[in-house]
Amino acid sequence: MATQTPQPQEPEKVKWAPLSVPIERRVQTLAVLFWALQFFIILGAFFLLALFPSTWPVLIPYVCWVVFIDRAERKGGRRVEALRNMPIWTWFVDYFPIRLHKTADVPPTRPYIFGYHPHGVISLGAWGNFATNATGFSKLFPGIKLHLCTLDPNFRWPFTREYLLGMGLVSVDRKSLEYVLHKGESAMIVIGGAEEAAKARPFTNDLVLGRRFGFVKLALRYGAWLVPVFSFGEGDIWDIKESETGDKISHWTKKYFGVTLPLIFGRGVFNYNYGIMPYRRAINTVVGEPLEMPHIPEPTEEQVREHHDRYVAALKKVWDANKDVYAKQRRRSLRLVE
Ligand SMILES: *[C@@H]1O[C@H](CO)[C@@H](O)[C@H](O)[C@H]1NC(C)=O
Repeated sequence: MATQTPQPQEPEKVKWAPLSVPIERRVQTLAVLFWALQFFIILGAFFLLALFPSTWPVLIPYVCWVVFIDRAERKGGRRVEALRNMPIWTWFVDYFPIRLHKTADVPPTRPYIFGYHPHGVISLGAWGNFATNATGFSKLFPGIKLHLCTLDPNFRWPFTREYLLGMGLVSVDRKSLEYVLHKGESAMIVIGGAEEAAKARPFTNDLVLGRRFGFVKLALRYGAWLVPVFSFGEGDIWDIKESETGDKISHWTKKYFGVTLPLIFGRGVFNYNYGIMPYRRAINTVVGEPLEMPHIPEPTEEQVREHHDRYVAALKKVWDANKDVYAKQRRRSLRLVE
């Protein structure tokens, strides 16, 4: 099982992409580059506009509105299907490729909490599959209005915030989740969060799940069924440099910003072995069977644990049923490390 990714000891010669790369692949690379820079591009557009005083009569009220009034990130977002259907997302998912696999129907008769595992460096597969329609989510799961959830601070940046809301994202804050479930819609939570991101290593799947009870409790309180989602390959698209300094930086950024920044290395736009563009490695996201949950408005700790165990078992089932198809290169099996 153990296939090591090449980790060069001494500087390796740059492997330039040949000029003959088909246009299709060039466009895919460009789409991933856009994705990598999207926040800077959109935030940059705001600051660029702000350079012109003639825009202030619009921008100043807008910023006030964002800071003091609008709470859309906790009120189900502001999904714009046209954004989710942009052709760029098809190119983006075809780069890796990212593919969505359905194993059972998810009837749109109740709210669901989808758990996404593993976090990987940045949950790129979650973006491709669930923030966009490029892998056919709305066709495979008709009627399910799924909101990918992310940390609150991501919604504080002007314009970027509108963009995330348009892609259907909402805050992972409890109030936000309650709002979505109460409306009968569904939320996707990357359960392992930043702790799991810090543990991302290619061809391993170490999950931080053992003590994450909040989502189970919430599901019980709303009678939302749980849907385990395992994204094979999520952790494989970058190589990670192990370093003490890197760990310290990650610890610091996690403490102050809630995010970790593993020392990633991948490829470049015009070469195959230097840069921080992700590798073209497949991400296969398998949506497991929905786990029936009782509706218990005030669940006891024991009940929460019991259903947490059921969820973990269901997730492991998804892993076991697919590991020999989508995780052939794994260095070791799935582990719950925390
Ligand atoms: C999502 O994409 C499919 C094509 O794969 C399309 O038929 C469908 O209308 C799209 N859904 C929405 C909600 O736009």
